[in-house]
Amino acid sequence: MNLAEYLNKLLAIEQECTNFLTAANEKTEVSDIKNKFLGRKSELTALLRSIVELRPEERGEAGKAANETRTKIESLVNQKLNATPENAEVLDVSLPGDKFSEGHLHLTTQAIKEITKIFEKIGFYKVRYPEVDWDWYAFTSLNFPLNHPARDDWETFFIDKTEQDPKLGKRVLTPHTSSGQVREMQTGRMPIRMINISKTYRRQIDISHTPMFHQFEGLLIDKGITIAHLKGVLDYFVKEFFGPDRKVRIRPYNFRFTEPSFEVDVSLPDGSKIGKNGWLEIGGAGMVHPKVLEAGGIDPKVYSGFAFGWGVERNKIVQKGIQIDDIRILYQNDIRFLKQF
Ligand code: PHE
Repeated sequence: MNLAEYLNKLLAIEQECTNFLTAANEKTEVSDIKNKFLGRKSELTALLRSIVELRPEERGEAGKAANETRTKIESLVNQKLNATPENAEVLDVSLPGDKFSEGHLHLTTQAIKEITKIFEKIGFYKVRYPEVDWDWYAFTSLNFPLNHPARDDWETFFIDKTEQDPKLGKRVLTPHTSSGQVREMQTGRMPIRMINISKTYRRQIDISHTPMFHQFEGLLIDKGITIAHLKGVLDYFVKEFFGPDRKVRIRPYNFRFTEPSFEVDVSLPDGSKIGKNGWLEIGGAGMVHPKVLEAGGIDPKVYSGFAFGWGVERNKIVQKGIQIDDIRILYQNDIRFLKQF
């Protein structure tokens, strides 16, 4: 071997190393390359040892060049190491598994499922009707005269500025699930035993109101339905949902779409801090007004029925006996609050 050949070999080693480094993309690969080109068994080490094969006057330059190549390779390898991301995770099947923290259903969803089940057990079926519906379904068909101030009581979000249809009027975000009553009657099903659970919207927001909340609406229509049937269903629900010791009572009230109308109270456990004299109002109910039956195409001389509409969140909170200072927290997605239920 002469000096020229020696220098060519050094160049070739450096070139080969550069090629390897360019192709590498994991840290372990770079370490292997370092070993291959700088380790004790590397070609470069062997070349350094073989310097004695050169003529004595060539050895100085060869040695210098070999050391420079070594320094160059070292710096290329280190640069590459710094620029290469950590290795992809190695799969060790013997390691214990990672536990995912498990979430659960939102309080409101839990309540909806629970309420649905309770009513399904006595033959009610669940329906869903539009959350954006016509004024006619939300009010007119429910015996609210046009321009009746009661439309303001519900503090409705109107979608349209002007009437879109001479009969149906404007579109609204449904302010109560009662908007499903006439829709259900129009399906032609008989007897009707619907439970309609849905989002409802009213223009209200403060510590005890959210602009969106949920209601569940029961509607039962058949021949010969009386207040006694209503009372029986309310009694059954209250015992299932609040507990076997709880009682229900109805007080006269006024809704446009039921006659007679009632407010429904549930008895409270001894020592309860909420309610009045051991009772708490939890929703409205009544016998379906003949005009509403007519709006739904049902003959009030043949059929009668009852309806009730209660707030999902309110009932769940009362059931749990929890005190929530600001009800808006239900929908703020604060995990610290939600995970308690
Ligand atoms: N829709 C009434 C409300 O939102 C509740 C209700 C439903 C009353 C059905 C009577 C019958 O307050």
